[in-house]
Amino acid sequence: MAEFELILIEKPSDGVGLIRLNRPKVLNALNSSVMNEIATALTAFSSDPNVRVVILTGNEKAFAAGSDISEMSGKTETNILQDTGVRNWQTIANFPKPLIAAVSGFVLGGGLELAMTCDIMIASESARFGQPEINLGIIPGAGGTQRLTRVVGKSLAMEMVLNARMLNANEALRLGLVSKVVPLETYLENALELAKQIAARAPIALQAAKKSVNAAFELGLSKGLELERQQFAMLFNTSDQKEGMNAFLERRRAKWQGK
Ligand code: HXC
Repeated sequence: MAEFELILIEKPSDGVGLIRLNRPKVLNALNSSVMNEIATALTAFSSDPNVRVVILTGNEKAFAAGSDISEMSGKTETNILQDTGVRNWQTIANFPKPLIAAVSGFVLGGGLELAMTCDIMIASESARFGQPEINLGIIPGAGGTQRLTRVVGKSLAMEMVLNARMLNANEALRLGLVSKVVPLETYLENALELAKQIAARAPIALQAAKKSVNAAFELGLSKGLELERQQFAMLFNTSDQKEGMNAFLERRRAKWQGK
């Protein structure tokens, strides 16, 4: 794996990769180098058969307080339009394996957009979510107006985007923005436990499941159902499907091969 300066990479347990944002002095503000490093790490994890699930995290005080304002402040419209960094966001969104965001503290602006690009969000009780870009005279630019609206609905998304309303962890849980709120001391442990459980499951089915659920955000119902059906059928061409069903019938635990 390449050398990184602004993220830390670990393999905390079998099948699990961990990416930790590591710019604590600026609350993990996302500059272009961090985004490059995240995309590079995910690209390496995507072709590593020993990594089946990835956790993306920050620290207790901040998952990420947004894109780096000092880097953005002098930019022009042309700079933004020509910014190749958009490819990094696509790499993250297209990462084929399950990606869990373990968030705590500030989850703001590009930080919330990054967490929403992941598949599952687990939050510590201290997490605070918001799209405060309006305070800077801009709007969210990496999915905040789209992904947030699909999750929390129009009225609340408007309040968050137009008026920088923040959500606490329990509000985020009630709205389905996060799937679990856990004590600050154990949020990473909790994400790791979930990652381990998912990593032990049938790998090709995991990727088909992720692709199919994500299609619900991209496609209309009939196209989404069609994609689900194709993925479902494709799995009957895998040894894992035979193994999973035989194991059930023989009352034993399945041994997944990932093929
Ligand atoms: C650069 C940041 C930063 C950011 C914090 N810092 N957020 N630097 N970009 N987004 C830096 C501060 O300048 C400061 O550095 C240090 O981190 C600690 O921050 P403080 O403000 O002193 O901490 P605190 O008083 O606890 O306030 C925390 C905070 C505040 C409420 C989160 O930092 C804040 O409002 N940050 C900006 C949040 C924001 O607007 N996010 C959206 C960004 S735009 P020094 O050197 O002074 O100690 C965006 C667009 C996405 O994300 C587009 C995607 C393509």
